[in-house]
Amino acid sequence: MATNGTGANRFLIWGGKGWVAGHLETILKSQGKQVFTTTVRMEDRESVKAELDKIKPTHVLNCAGCTGRPNVDWCEDHKEETIRSNVIGTLNLTDCCYLAGIHCTVFATGCIYHYDNAHPIGGPGFKETDPSNFTGSFYSETKGHVEEVIRNYTNCLVLRLRMPVSDDLHPRNFVTKISKYERVVDIPNSNTILTDLLPASILMAEHSDTGVYNFTNPGAISHNEVLTLFKEIIRPDFTWKNFTVEEQAKVIKAGRSNCLLDTTKLEKKLKEYSCSVPEIHESYRRCFERMKAAGVK
Ligand SMILES: NC(=O)c1ccc[n+]([C@@H]2O[C@H](COP(=O)([O-])OP(=O)(O)OC[C@H]3O[C@@H](n4cnc5c(N)ncnc54)[C@H](OP(=O)(O)O)[C@@H]3O)[C@@H](O)[C@H]2O)c1
Repeated sequence: MATNGTGANRFLIWGGKGWVAGHLETILKSQGKQVFTTTVRMEDRESVKAELDKIKPTHVLNCAGCTGRPNVDWCEDHKEETIRSNVIGTLNLTDCCYLAGIHCTVFATGCIYHYDNAHPIGGPGFKETDPSNFTGSFYSETKGHVEEVIRNYTNCLVLRLRMPVSDDLHPRNFVTKISKYERVVDIPNSNTILTDLLPASILMAEHSDTGVYNFTNPGAISHNEVLTLFKEIIRPDFTWKNFTVEEQAKVIKAGRSNCLLDTTKLEKKLKEYSCSVPEIHESYRRCFERMKAAGVK
């Protein structure tokens, strides 16, 4: 992998204006690391090569992706744009990094599965080796396909996030989203509390880890459990209404993935670095306590 002759790591965050990218940049800066950001389009091979040549990173942290606005329903009607970013772009950037000897961490998604007979609610979670089984949304379909290809690159670390949660009420925070919906389903899911997991992603990149990792807190938490904790700690007068998955399907264009990811591989890896990630219920409680202490209401 590249060293640039200086011995120091140089992190280049792709998709530099995005939500996860901003959090990563803040953490890296707080750790005193050399960090650069870019908004160069991933599918533009010449520009990607020129950017890598200019910045000379040792590590690319790829936080770029077409996520749709206001949500993934957008991808159903913009398939070419979604393919160009999530398939051609992601693959192109990984490949350019490979050719330049640069480690590439891809902030990917675990929304490529849904509960099935072998992985029912309350049963075993999906492992990194399980083939994706959720194609209910075009967004997830593109992500599932590209993962199958990039996981073969020896410079590539694929981290599967799910329903990321920040310590604020940013519009992209899963908690903000479900607290604003008129009605919510109530299904246990794996979630990624960014404060716990993003520092771990930097550790793994620094160790040049490669391969695919389910990148969530251990365990699954239901929507009602999240909102009950939210009400208890942040907003005592909060109320919400539930509806079924069948009723939800009538108000959204693309399907939504619901699943538990098995985090055994991640936990084992992080143990090597004397690092651990709290179980999801405990992690949510800590997250909401931090928010409360910061005055979030
Ligand atoms: N937030 C979630 O719920 C979630 C869950 C699991 C995984 N993820 C994945 O994590 C990554 C970061 O998510 P996020 O929530 O931070 O999303 P975000 O706020 O939408 O940020 C993504 C960024 O990527 C940029 N981008 C899109 N296509 C690009 C391309 N072809 N070339 C270069 N930049 C491009 C976007 O720029 P423009 O706006 O200019 O296009 C945007 O700034 C994404 O890959 C996403 O799929 C997110």
